[in-house]
Amino acid sequence: MKNILHIISSPRGEISASRKLGKAVIEKILEKYPDAVVKERDLTKNAVPVLGEVHISTFFTPPQDHSPEQQLINRYSEELIAELKEAHMIVIDSPMYNFSVPTSLKAYFDFTSRAGYTFKYSEDGPKGLLDDDKKLYIAFTSGNIYSTGPYQVFDSNVPYIRHIFGFYGISDVSVFRAEGLAIPGIMETSLEKAIGTITID
Ligand SMILES: Cc1cc2nc3c(=O)[nH]c(=O)nc-3n(C[C@H](O)[C@H](O)[C@H](O)COP(=O)(O)O)c2cc1C
Repeated sequence: MKNILHIISSPRGEISASRKLGKAVIEKILEKYPDAVVKERDLTKNAVPVLGEVHISTFFTPPQDHSPEQQLINRYSEELIAELKEAHMIVIDSPMYNFSVPTSLKAYFDFTSRAGYTFKYSEDGPKGLLDDDKKLYIAFTSGNIYSTGPYQVFDSNVPYIRHIFGFYGISDVSVFRAEGLAIPGIMETSLEKAIGTITID
């Protein structure tokens, strides 16, 4: 039985394009693996805090020395990391907001990028600690087009998310893009076309 983790980052609810694309990926996975169990991590509900001094000090203090506040922070971070460890497949919805990932997603990475949990450093440099047999699907949406053309140099989200998960040890990645969602003549069909490209391996 497959465990699927669906990470959602758009606050735009029903009208969100990235949620629609991510949902379509989940539906395709369920077609292939009807017994799969899907866990949703909606980062717009119960938001991960913006990384502050107390969070950083928590992550760099041995658990036995945590204050009651740090214990709560550590528990939340460990819960997020446990979900990643349990997942066989991860679907991550990411719209582009102001040339980056939504703040909620950055906060999520700040709470899951932890030495000894998701990565470690050795003499050979960084090493991911998540099992490398996991599959990552990125559902990316944007107003402009970044996969090709003059704005390709600003293609920030997909390489960034790919890199973070690679840093955690996950290298098997498929990307589905609904781009040009602000460009007349493209916006009308972009999402539908992106959904049409979804394949699950
Ligand atoms: C606050 C905000 C910032 C945005 N910034 C960008 C941007 O920098 N580049 C871009 O191509 N599109 C940008 N867009 C367009 C979104 O990437 C596009 O509409 C996307 O589909 C939104 O995903 P969502 O509907 O899942 O929230 C922005 C949209 C919003 C709401």
